[in-house]
Amino acid sequence: MTEPAHLAAVRESSDTVAADYLHRVVPPEGMDPVSRAMLAAFAELVRAAGGGPVADLGCGPGRVTAYLAGLGLSAFGVDVSGEMVALARRAYPRLRFHRGTMSALDLPDGTLGGILAWYSVHHTPPELLPALFAEFHRVLAPGGLLLLGGHAGDARLHPATAYGHPVSFGSYLLPADRLADLLDGAGFTVTTRLEQLRPDRPDRSYVSLLAEPRA
Ligand SMILES: C[S@@+](CC[C@H](N)C(=O)[O-])C[C@H]1O[C@@H](n2cnc3c(N)ncnc32)[C@H](O)[C@@H]1O
Repeated sequence: MTEPAHLAAVRESSDTVAADYLHRVVPPEGMDPVSRAMLAAFAELVRAAGGGPVADLGCGPGRVTAYLAGLGLSAFGVDVSGEMVALARRAYPRLRFHRGTMSALDLPDGTLGGILAWYSVHHTPPELLPALFAEFHRVLAPGGLLLLGGHAGDARLHPATAYGHPVSFGSYLLPADRLADLLDGAGFTVTTRLEQLRPDRPDRSYVSLLAEPRA
């Protein structure tokens, strides 16, 4: 199948920025306490529901995957960027990382205890989010849990550079309400919604949504 243009752009751009992303972005241990609390709550809820396998979709260099593993989850990572996956495998040789797209997962229906999509869905054009969230729904087991975390706003951005490199990917920011509606439309019940406001950018926020698949 031909790779969609937006995905080729994400793959190429993520390959280009991978090493600098690793050096410039704080690891989970350095995140703000509220974000870490969301990851911890997600881990506790997945463990309480039986602790099935957890896919970290758009895992980048694998640090959040490893953080989830440290919280007792059976976590593995998926990323479209070969460079990101290579960094993850090098840093965490005991964990599994796969190269692939989160929009067409090489996983059977109903097998995951959890999905984390942490700052990774904003590269998907909004018109493709219904299909992306339907794919998340397909692979989650009944009683599974999705944690979607990322930027919220209302903008279609095409930055010329990121982490000091030329890039071609887009960043598509949606309001938190819209993200929640899209999850609902894909068959999820959103159970928790946390929005961290940004004094430096009143038009942007960081949003975390916990959602369960409806039958
Ligand atoms: C901003 S990074 C976040 C990485 C990681 N979640 C973290 O928090 O460190 C976004 C990552 O999502 C990946 N990504 C974006 N769209 C993807 C897709 N459709 N399938 C797989 N990976 C994707 C990119 O390659 C990139 O590594």
